[in-house]
Amino acid sequence: MSGHNLDSNCITLTRFFLEEQKRFKEATGELTQLLTSIQTAVKVVSSAVRRAGITKLFGTVGETNVQGEEVKKLDVLANELFINMLQSSYSTALLISEENETVIEIEIDKRGKYIVAFDPLDGSSNIDCLVSIGSIFAIMKKEDNTIPNLKDALQSGRHVVAAGYALYGSATMLVLSTGRGVHGFMLDPSIGEFILTDKDMKVPARGNIYAINEGYTHLWDEAVKEYVQNKKDPAKGKPYNARYVGSMVADVHRTIKYGGIFVYPATAASPKGKLRLLYECIPMAYLVTQAGGLASNGKIPILDIQPTSLHERSPIFLGSKEDVEEILDIIKKHE
Ligand code: AHM
Ligand code: MG
Repeated sequence: MSGHNLDSNCITLTRFFLEEQKRFKEATGELTQLLTSIQTAVKVVSSAVRRAGITKLFGTVGETNVQGEEVKKLDVLANELFINMLQSSYSTALLISEENETVIEIEIDKRGKYIVAFDPLDGSSNIDCLVSIGSIFAIMKKEDNTIPNLKDALQSGRHVVAAGYALYGSATMLVLSTGRGVHGFMLDPSIGEFILTDKDMKVPARGNIYAINEGYTHLWDEAVKEYVQNKKDPAKGKPYNARYVGSMVADVHRTIKYGGIFVYPATAASPKGKLRLLYECIPMAYLVTQAGGLASNGKIPILDIQPTSLHERSPIFLGSKEDVEEILDIIKKHE
């Protein structure tokens, strides 16, 4: 027996990228470069999140972002990190960030073939009270050699080549799919490496948790009201547990691990819901679908929606296949 419990043959995230790259004969290594730059950004954000109180990154910088919300200092730092790392990876043509109103076009001498949509730090209302936050990203390809423009950014989820999120929770985890299953890598702070801990993650076919902001009940349509009511009614089966972090990454991660449903529906106040299609709904839908779950806007799969603007929103019903099917049936019934 060895005196330590370090695995001398562990699969680091970098090793995983290289193995994935080897699978494709025509691979140029550009996606590996891109993912490596995201890995670096995530490591730095994770370190900043862990030290935020000490380094005085908590609180706001007194500005509002394009959605009219207060910008936190950590948001700014995370956004700058993502942009700088992606720009210098020589693998991107266009960036879409929650924090930037317009697309970021990469200068020609640094340009590569990928487009990345990201939310550098999601769940900002949870920063100051130390509840989990995360980063979300989706990667698409630029299909031609023209100057990158808005049209290249507005691709449906069917064009995603890879997507992932980083969860800055009780540990930091990076969950990733390049189209062949979903894999989770835990950051080992003692060596500064992400280690494969959750291989081929699958969403249970049914769960017993519902996650929705129930404070908005009065703004929901009848179908959502009926569904949530059913989940609490012992006459309709064993009541579900309510869990809602208010950080999409944490709520989706729990849904993938334990099953159940995460819903951010349309409300009377926000008819398209709150969550943004390109860098919140599409990447999460891609991951959940890869993990055997479902993600719908209530009518069609999230991945089938054709985006029409950069920061557009979409209602989302995501999680265990049977749980999502159940609410979709109720929606149909109310139509
Ligand atoms: P943000 O991008 O401003 O951080 O908002 C997105 C977050 C999601 O992480 C979360 O699912 C949702 O907002 C919670 O919203 P609400 O407080 O309306 O329930
Ligand atoms: Mg967000």
